[in-house]
Amino acid sequence: MAGKIPQSFIDQVVNQTDIVDLIDSYIDLKPKGKEYTACCPFHGEKTPSFTVNREKQFYHCFGCGAHGTAIGFLMEHEGLEFVETIEVLAQRLGLEVSYEQGSQRHDGLADLYSALETASHYYQQQLRHNQNAINYLKSRGISGEICQRFNIGFAPPGFDNLKSNLTITAALLIKAGLLSEKPPNKIYDRFRHRIMFPIKDPRGRVIAFGGREIDGSMPKYINSPETELFHKGSTLYGLYEARQALGKIKQLIIVEGYMDVVALAQHGVYNAIATLGTATTSQNIRNLLRYTASLIFCFDGDRAGKDAAWKALQQILPEYKDGIDIRFAFMPQGEDPDSLIRSAGKDAFQTHLKQAMPLSEYFFTKLCAEIDISTLDGRAKLADTAQPLMNKLPKIVFRDLMFKELNQRVGTSITNTQPALQSRSKQTPRMPQGRHPKYTKTRLAIALLLREPQLAQYALAEDQLNKLSATPGVPLLIELLDIIQAETSLTSSALIERFHGRPEYPILQKLILWELPDMDNRELSFRKTMERFNEDIRRIGYDSFIEQDPT
Ligand code: UTP
Ligand code: MN
Repeated sequence: MAGKIPQSFIDQVVNQTDIVDLIDSYIDLKPKGKEYTACCPFHGEKTPSFTVNREKQFYHCFGCGAHGTAIGFLMEHEGLEFVETIEVLAQRLGLEVSYEQGSQRHDGLADLYSALETASHYYQQQLRHNQNAINYLKSRGISGEICQRFNIGFAPPGFDNLKSNLTITAALLIKAGLLSEKPPNKIYDRFRHRIMFPIKDPRGRVIAFGGREIDGSMPKYINSPETELFHKGSTLYGLYEARQALGKIKQLIIVEGYMDVVALAQHGVYNAIATLGTATTSQNIRNLLRYTASLIFCFDGDRAGKDAAWKALQQILPEYKDGIDIRFAFMPQGEDPDSLIRSAGKDAFQTHLKQAMPLSEYFFTKLCAEIDISTLDGRAKLADTAQPLMNKLPKIVFRDLMFKELNQRVGTSITNTQPALQSRSKQTPRMPQGRHPKYTKTRLAIALLLREPQLAQYALAEDQLNKLSATPGVPLLIELLDIIQAETSLTSSALIERFHGRPEYPILQKLILWELPDMDNRELSFRKTMERFNEDIRRIGYDSFIEQDPT
């Protein structure tokens, strides 16, 4: 379990975070009336239906129904846990996170992060002292500045460097993937005589390393094993650095190797990231589409690169959304992005990218290159091969267009009737039913309180409201009043976040979206609900009076 952060600190962070500023640092928001809009980052779309409201401190997408607070946005967008989200928000505000027990997170992972960070410092320091390693990097055109940006280091030759130079237990170093074990009792440095590329998570914490040999030994690259922190299939090299350099990312270039990412940055192309020597996974695609709707896969021109591209395409199909732009670029035979940009320069590389094929074009070009569609049999084979792949697409406009294209090429009409595989993206299940709960006075009172916590001063006394505690919603209303009375400076988002993880949370999220009376009339409206509660209380008193046996 993560270390506990005191409620007062969470309140402070939420109070000080402005949802418009926060979301605007991830996606481009445009002012529109009282709200801000953008194309929704949680589902594909061409016209914006994602809105952010500063007054409500809430976002809402009319397309897919996604909605929530600043915290909710960050959790969803960055895939973070609650505690991590508070940590990120605190960092943005320049606040030091305080934890309840002592000053550290106590989830056991803190030690692991810290061991990896220490090792990374050690490797970077070793690079400064090793002329061979420096010469190697120079020979590949990598400057000191770029080494620093990527925190590139060097693992010296030898089997015992980490144990003898770092004050970290062997058990922890093994857990971090830095030491290898050979039973019965051999424990030694996994990375030896290698240039070290730290692999970071999107928050910039080192979670693993890739190490390249510089003396011809095999294999060329060694990577950290899977650990508690490192999962190859969901990690991308260079994403943190790209976001550091660019802030919002318009387009990402997906390349194959560490050296490609680093060399592109060296030449001023900062938006490249790499999968970790593995095929592109659907998890990768989902992650990438959270950051940008425009992806260019940039593969080597050799057989392996072409196979990798086709495999990637198959992972993309079920994740496809309308409004995204996915392209495939192939390097000239024998080149990779690193060698091309070094020999031909940035402009030539970018010209090459401009010629990248959209996914639909690549799909048909590749299939038609392998099948002779001048014959009837060939056209039947094309239909046979293409259909099961196209059926992986979710039911979106793009899918229909792909079927139209297939029909044209085959010269018949294959109907797009196959049930589309459910898209893995969250668009369908998130559509909330009954987005606007029925108006009742309790709900209205809660909605008003959420937006204007200071209205609590006009509430009935708790002992009065307690008489209605059997009425649905009233206990929640009482709890809200209690919270506000104890902490008068809470903003509405901090108030909602007090309920994070509780069954009431989604209800409160819906209520904050209610259209309320104008600011000027809210007090009146709240007082009226209280008056109606008062009537209920009086009625209860009256009912219990006539129920008594008149003697
Ligand atoms: P490449 O062989 O294309 O390497 O492998 P590269 O990045 O161009 O490196 P240089 O230019 O030869 O230095 C692409 C990626 O595949 C993984 C690494 O992640 C590498 O960046 N790989 C490759 C391994 O994990 N192990 C290997 O032995 C080779
Ligand atoms: Mn290379």
